[in-house]
Amino acid sequence: MVEFTLPKNSKVMKGKTHKAPSTPKNTKVFAIYRWDPENPTVNPRLDYYEVDLDQSGTMILDALIYIKDKIDPTLTFRRSCREGVCGSCSMNIDGVNTLACIKPISEIKNDVKIYPLPHMPVIKDLVPDLSIAYEQLASVEPWLKANPAKEGDRERLQSPEERAKLDGSWECILCMCCSTSCPSYWWNGDKYLGPATLLQSYRWIADSRDEHTDERLDDLEDPFKLYRCHTIMNCTNTCPKGLNPAKAIGEIKQKIALKKK
Ligand code: SF4
Ligand code: F3S
Ligand code: FES
Repeated sequence: MVEFTLPKNSKVMKGKTHKAPSTPKNTKVFAIYRWDPENPTVNPRLDYYEVDLDQSGTMILDALIYIKDKIDPTLTFRRSCREGVCGSCSMNIDGVNTLACIKPISEIKNDVKIYPLPHMPVIKDLVPDLSIAYEQLASVEPWLKANPAKEGDRERLQSPEERAKLDGSWECILCMCCSTSCPSYWWNGDKYLGPATLLQSYRWIADSRDEHTDERLDDLEDPFKLYRCHTIMNCTNTCPKGLNPAKAIGEIKQKIALKKK
């Protein structure tokens, strides 16, 4: 089993090496970040696992489940749908924020390095604390805000063109890969809303049925909440759903500028 060499001056300790249970022919080494809140003396560290690729399945999440089932039940990570729709299994794989369930192992040529989403507090192993990100999401009130229907009104209709304006934002699964790839969010994550929350905000600003567009724009006009985006583009480059939060942020800035004219 080939083992990793940690970079010089790494603050991450070298952890345990775990071999596959049998003596498989087709293996890959996974180096996985570990953080145990109940045992601070061994934090943080990289543990090494030999995964039998003939038994594990094809995706990174399959390998993590193989490790948890067959080698080390203490390894902790989030997952639910295993098909790229719940956003739970986001993590940093081979240096890129993405979803473990739709990332094929075969796309990684060498050994696989897995860390939690960057620059977030860690609860355990690959599970980041996203409490602040969820509070920020709630702050933009991501739901339809319309005045009560008048008597005799029917459902709120949209033309196909109005509905099409929501494409590219409703598909967001809130995995937070984008926000945790953004340097502005790393540095000002307590005040800058970040691309995931701003894309959600844009989804309601662009909705023809919403009647609070001006208030939404006024609330975002703030040097930190919105204007800490400096068009770095990591967000769009990393989104595992192929969305473009940077473009949505640009659209919000443009709408605010036009409102002032
Ligand atoms: Fe995830 Fe993409 Fe939504 Fe960001 S925009 S939260 S990366 S799905
Ligand atoms: Fe960050 Fe994306 Fe803006 S990476 S700075 S939110 S374009
Ligand atoms: Fe749901 Fe990966 S487990 S997106």
